[in-house]
Amino acid sequence: MKRILSGIKPSGDLNIGGYAGALSQFVKYQHEFDSFFFVPDLHAVTVAQDPKELHQRSREIAAYYVAAGIDPEKATIFLQSQVPAHAELGWIMETQAHFGELNRMTQFKEKSDGKEGVSASLFTYPALMASDILLYQATHVPVGEDQTQHLELTRDLANRFNSRFGTTFTVPEAIVQDIGARVMGLDDPHKKMSKSNPNKASYILMLDEPAAIRKKFSRAVTDSDGQVRYDWESKPAVSNLIELYSLFGEVSTEDVERRFDGQGYGAFKKELAEVVIAKLEPIQQRFHEIVNSAELDEILKRGARKANEEAGKTLLAAKKAMGFVTFD
Ligand code: TYM
Repeated sequence: MKRILSGIKPSGDLNIGGYAGALSQFVKYQHEFDSFFFVPDLHAVTVAQDPKELHQRSREIAAYYVAAGIDPEKATIFLQSQVPAHAELGWIMETQAHFGELNRMTQFKEKSDGKEGVSASLFTYPALMASDILLYQATHVPVGEDQTQHLELTRDLANRFNSRFGTTFTVPEAIVQDIGARVMGLDDPHKKMSKSNPNKASYILMLDEPAAIRKKFSRAVTDSDGQVRYDWESKPAVSNLIELYSLFGEVSTEDVERRFDGQGYGAFKKELAEVVIAKLEPIQQRFHEIVNSAELDEILKRGARKANEEAGKTLLAAKKAMGFVTFD
């Protein structure tokens, strides 16, 4: 059976990059795969988090899942911290991961660069991420491009464990879609769209009001040749906007080029804003209905039960394989 698992960290307000690279994929794939979508709250605390904010943001990510169209009757939605097997298998994965390979992770380098008091958990983060995926025997993991290195490491760890202790884990594959896997900042097409950019006009948040969305797109950088043409090499800023139009408007990049052929960037950006607003408005509405509701509590409780069941089976198998004494 094909199964997906993926998640979005509750560590900042969600921007449309996370929607493009991850959430929109989750919604699409839930029909094809047995699906597990979780909130990696244990990952969020690898950097300092305010407890109240962590609490609220964790609910928010779960609410986005439902609001964007993940059906909680079909998919399992849960919080990582409510499934203790993640931390336990995470430790086991740390015993398999080499210092050198963790040290090569570009996300660790980026997040620790120049910082003091970097937590040990930020370094071992990819071992926990491997455990998230392997516990559910996921065959596929839909992610944005920035997570592919972590996925490669997960595959290496699964293979290493399987060859040392006998086949225990499914070796997962990343699914990175052609469009939206790397949404860049609206101010600089060479930097990923990210909430950590101090320039607020560089990103669009899932909860941004229409007026803010229009304003941010109208100011987005383009280039001087004036043609709406999809070509990352020579026109990265415009290509980034075309991908957003394609993803949010559900049309191909060629269709976008055709539609705006001969028109300037002004008309293109105006319509892009409307396409994004049209997609976000119903999500925002449902988000507000559900985020602090008992309905969401129920979804998460149910999800945790199912996730604990599934994860428990794999954890037990892994512990047995390694030689731990188990009584089952
Ligand atoms: P996180 O929370 O940083 O991002 C969540 C997902 O969104 C994608 N993404 C983007 N895609 C396109 N353009 C962007 N600008 C953009 N920004 C974010 C990310 O690639 C990711 O797919 N380590 C993970 C969370 C995690 C996880 C897992 C994911 C923990 N365990 C197991 C999958 C499976 C992370 O920090 O993603």
